[in-house]
This record gives sequence, C-alpha cells and structure tokens, in this order.
Amino acid sequence: MESEARTPAVRLWGGRFESGPAEALARLSVSVQFDWRLAPYDLLASKAHARVLHRAGLLSDVELRRLLGALDELAVDCRSGAFRPTAADEDVHTALERGLLERLGSLGGKLRAGRSRNDQVATDLRLYLRDHVRQVAARLVELQTALMDQAASHLTDPATPAPGLTHTQHAQPVLLAHQLLAHVHAFARDVARLRDWDKRAAISPLGAGALAGSSLPLDPKAVAAELGFDSAAPNSMDAVADRDFAAEFCFAAALSGVHLSRLGEEVVLWTSHEFGWAEIDDAYASGSSIMPQKKNADVAELARGKAGRLIGGLTGLLTMLKGLPLTYNRDLQEDKEPVFDAVDTLLLVLPAMAGLVSSMRFHRQRLSRAAAAGHALATDLAELLVKRGVPFREAHEAVGHLVIWCEVHDCELGEVGDEDLVKVSPHLTPDVRGVLSVPGALAARDTYGSTAPARVEAQLAELRSVVQSDAVWAATG
Ligand code: ARG
Repeated sequence: MESEARTPAVRLWGGRFESGPAEALARLSVSVQFDWRLAPYDLLASKAHARVLHRAGLLSDVELRRLLGALDELAVDCRSGAFRPTAADEDVHTALERGLLERLGSLGGKLRAGRSRNDQVATDLRLYLRDHVRQVAARLVELQTALMDQAASHLTDPATPAPGLTHTQHAQPVLLAHQLLAHVHAFARDVARLRDWDKRAAISPLGAGALAGSSLPLDPKAVAAELGFDSAAPNSMDAVADRDFAAEFCFAAALSGVHLSRLGEEVVLWTSHEFGWAEIDDAYASGSSIMPQKKNADVAELARGKAGRLIGGLTGLLTMLKGLPLTYNRDLQEDKEPVFDAVDTLLLVLPAMAGLVSSMRFHRQRLSRAAAAGHALATDLAELLVKRGVPFREAHEAVGHLVIWCEVHDCELGEVGDEDLVKVSPHLTPDVRGVLSVPGALAARDTYGSTAPARVEAQLAELRSVVQSDAVWAATG
C-alpha cells in the first residue's frame, strides 16, 4: 500500500461531521488491506449501476460514457498495480471512489446515487465467491482425478487388495481402488455442495441501498441480470443483512478441509514404516534437518492441520453473526477474512494433495500380503457356514474359537490342519478352507456398492461421469 494519498482521503460522510476521525478509529475501521481483492467485482458492479442510473435519466449519455471509460481504465490500472489503495483509503469502495474522482472530478461522485456501501459490499462478496467457488471446484476435480487414476491403475488384473480397517484394526479385505474411490465420493459431495450453494448465492443485493431500497427509479433486476445473478433480492433489508452465503461457503470449505484432513491422515498412516503400504514421491516429501534418513509426509500433515483454520473461520463467522439485529452492522466487515482465508487455504492445499496422490507409489506385494493378515477372512468363513445352514450366532462363535486357536499357535486361519479344524468346531470341515483366499473373498462381495472388482469398475465409471460434469460446471459456471 502506498503511504501517502495522492488526493485527500475520501470522506463519505464529511457533511455531517465537524472533526475528522480519531487515529485509533481510523486504524480500527480500515479494511482495505484485505478487501482490496474485491476491486474487480466492485468495478463490475459500478458499471452495472452506472447503466441503471443512465436509464433512470440520472446520467446523460456523455456522463455514462465517461464513467464507463474511467471504470474500465481503473480496472486496467488496478490489475497492473498502477492504481493502488493508499493508507488513507478506508476500504475498497472508498479507494475506488477516490480513483474515479481523480479521473473525473465531481462526475465521479454521481455514482454514489441510489447505492450504499452496504449493498455494494454484499454484492461484491457474492460476485467474488461465485467466481472462486468455481476455482475451488476445479481443484477438487483435479484431486478426484488423481485419486481415480490411482484407483484405475490398481484395478488392472490382478486388482490390488488392501486391508480394510475399522478401529484401525484389520477388518475385511477390500480393493485398494475401493478405498481410494471412497475419498472421491466425499469430494464429489463437496463439489455438489458448492454447486448447490451457488444457486442460493445467485441473488443480487444491489439496489437495496443502505437498507430500505431506493426512491430513485433504479432497476435491481436489470443490474442482477447484468452481473450474472439469477434474480434480485426480494427484500432490501435481508439483502444487506444476510451473510448466509458466506457462512454456507465457509461450512462447505470446512467440510472439504475435514475430508482433506482424513485423506491426509490416511496418507500419513499408509506411508509410515509400520504400515508400509505406500511411498511418497520425493517431490512431495520433506526431509529432516538433522535425520538424514527421513522422508516426511508434510503435505498430508499440512492438509490435516489446515482443516483447523477452516473450521475456526466458520466458527468465528457464525459467532460474529449470531447476535446481529437487522440490518447492516459494522461487525459484518468481519465476514471477509474467514471467507478469503478459506478460499486461499483450499486453493493452496488442493493442488498439493492432487500432486501427492498422483505421484504416490503403492506397494502391491505388501498390500496383498497385509490384506489377509489379522484373520481378515474370518467373516467370509462365518458367512460360508451360514450358507450351509448354520445359524450366524453359532458360526460366529465357531470361527471365533478358530481365531483363538490361531493366535495361540501363531498361524493364519488357512494354515490350520484338518484334524485341528474339526476339533475346534464340527462345522469346520476341511473344505471350508476354500473361501480363505483374498481374491475369492473380494469377488464374493458383489452386491451394489461392494468391493468386488466388477463393482468397483462400475463405480469408477459412474464417478468419472459425475466428475466430468462437475468439471464442465467449474469451467463455465
Ligand atoms: N467496509 C465495509 C464492510 O466491509 C463496507 C460497508 C460499510 N458500511 C457502513 N455502513 N459503514 O462491511
């Protein structure tokens, strides 16, 4: 920010006040250091507002042309950095009004008719977010694609099995692809949530003025259409007081953060020495300044850690909103930082996680060996007995006894000899050993949504088409 204003600070309410603001008030009020990123959206909204003032007969043809020209010029100068806020600008709106006054003199002041910073800021933030949720969705799609490509590469014959865990204990074998796709489903819901959010956010507050609408013959619906909104706000008070769109976005972002964190936690486990399921590519791993052998999953850990700030942002925003009477209150200025931080955080974490996932190498052999460990085929054995007419209760108990036998003799279920099997339970005839194979167990789980290879392939095909349509939405909006 420049330290000195080229023109005196724009005071929006100079007429009513005899003295200027105290230094402490000015320092507390200022938001331009974080709301400057709304500048392109503020300028777009200003152009739409200028056209409406012109149609209302409040600007002549020449005035409109000059205003639009100056707004375009300002947009270019903002992009290049030729125009920047100064220390004396309170917020993005006052900074841009100064820019307009510098270029047009008093004509620049005409744009404020029928408009308040209250409807302006609500409009700008909606425009900013509608733009950026598409960027976030595009990055989510890239992460989903990385996960789906990994899944596809582990579906080729023979598909890679993995130990399926509950309570972080071996439970039943699954396909590695099935587990990777479970994460894709979570991210698909995240994108669906953003798309759904966008429908509710597509309402334009501009025209609400400070709170009560306008006595000038403005046309909020025309402004809404010009700015790409679906409709104009039907209640001017709600228009300036509502921040549901910001809170809902922060929730969607926080939940994506939670999903990223859970995936991050899995990567940390998978790449630990104890699991040894996968290795992180050097490009996405960090070393240690003291321990030469270290290869750490910092990307995954940062993804896990940053979920905290996303949840914190949401909590802060909701807490700020909860006690506010209608309509605008200055507290609302606090809405922007959590929103911006959520966008920045996701745009930072998502590409790193996509790169981490796509470059990670899974150890097929180790996963295959681990898939049956921990007596993970016990359920298959019990279900076989059920198919033979044994009540599940008895089957469960018989296999439970067999597990104890194996623990005592330090062997796997399939390694128990014929005589010992029947000794443990008369239900356990030697042929039950036939189901004690991981590929057999996987193929048998063939109902909709299960982990059989054919089911997982169909699941992947379905997901690819969902993700493809989300990618189109993110690109075109
Ligand atoms: N910077 C303010 C905000 O972000 C703009 C609106 C100011 N309105 C007001 N009545 N003081 O909320």
